[in-house]
Amino acid sequence: MRTTVGIIGAGPAGLLLARLLHNAGIDSVVLESRDRAYVEQRQRAGILEQGTVDVLRAAGAAARMDREGIPHDGIELRFDRRRHRVDFPALTGGRSVMVYAQTEVCKDLIALQLAAGGPLHFEAEALAVEGAETENPSIRFCHQGREDVLECDYVVGCDGSWGVARKAVPADVSQVFERTYPFGWLGILADVPPSHDELVYARHDRGFALLSMRSPTVTRAYLQVPAGTDAADWGDEEIWDELDRRLETDDAWTLKRGPITAKSVTPMRSYVHEPMRHGRVFLAGDAAHIVPPTGAKGLNLAVGDVVTFARALVELRETGSDARLEAYSATCLRRVWQAERFSYAMTTMLHRAPDATGFEDRIQLAQLDRITTARPAETDLAEGYTGFPLD
Ligand code: APR
Ligand code: PHB
Repeated sequence: MRTTVGIIGAGPAGLLLARLLHNAGIDSVVLESRDRAYVEQRQRAGILEQGTVDVLRAAGAAARMDREGIPHDGIELRFDRRRHRVDFPALTGGRSVMVYAQTEVCKDLIALQLAAGGPLHFEAEALAVEGAETENPSIRFCHQGREDVLECDYVVGCDGSWGVARKAVPADVSQVFERTYPFGWLGILADVPPSHDELVYARHDRGFALLSMRSPTVTRAYLQVPAGTDAADWGDEEIWDELDRRLETDDAWTLKRGPITAKSVTPMRSYVHEPMRHGRVFLAGDAAHIVPPTGAKGLNLAVGDVVTFARALVELRETGSDARLEAYSATCLRRVWQAERFSYAMTTMLHRAPDATGFEDRIQLAQLDRITTARPAETDLAEGYTGFPLD
């Protein structure tokens, strides 16, 4: 088998890359180790930055998002029983975000790819990437019990945090920057309308809480829990009671409760692998970087990477210049580190570390006070949340 771009992984990074390349007339093959049903029901975050929305529209992949997605012009910060709304368009010159689950983005991209696009093979596991430093890198993979090789001009590893593509970068040129947090998020889905019309990020002495949504009838919510917590240890009423406590306000706001339909715990990690390219092998999305979910940057970063790669390949074809391709890693990493900084700042401002002292509590409250009273600080949050520009 031969193709121009071999893509490992059918998460948002690999699927969007295949679409962008197809639209540009460049052929690709996607290899995904899991089956379609698994990829289409995996629960992930649900906030699309303005730039991601624009990219999906330009790629012709936004029809259902524009029908079912919920545009949001702000978020609420909650602390000390107080509420403060951050107005995105007013602070950023008109930028906003869209609530539309990553799962739905993946379903839309899979449907487009299967209807009109290059091959997308499920249950095809990449075993190794070979020849990164040659003009013809290849992917050794296993499909339907048989081993095969996909010969490529370029390989893009969109294979997530446990993928194999990263191994194509030799250890002596790789650098890893990492931080784990001593807490995770217990996430729920519940059949009850959202208790507020925008997302609520709450800092509380008992820990962080987030109120989000999936649709006008489905609530998504999260609680900070100690690292290693088993979701099954939390009863449904216990979860609602804890959300109630952490989201408490001095006004008449109330939390709507309903049947919980899913429960899981997500660990929190910051991780960056440098460089994001070795020879003709490129890394994109979670394969190269992880952010803690506070601020929902993961999917948006993946989109930035694959847009950067697709543009670089189109420029090479149209002008003969490989300058953008050469700059791929540096271009992506600049944006990645801004998102790492933003996600880290949001996480440390809103979560309570198990060993936090009164000093750290006061610093968090002072930071929130600053954001809610000083326009430059609030603008900084709004710009980070709605997204750093591509390029
Ligand atoms: N061969 C083939 N496919 C693989 C292999 C392999 N060896 N290893 C992993 N995969 C597949 C996974 O099954 C998964 O479907 O690669 C895909 C990676 O997808 P994601 O983990 O979704 O990563 P990415 O596309 O980079 O998406 C960015 O945004 O919200 C965040 O972390 C969240 O996944 C999200 C990310
Ligand atoms: C979600 O709805 O899943 C979500 C929203 C905002 C975040 C993280 C996750 O910061």
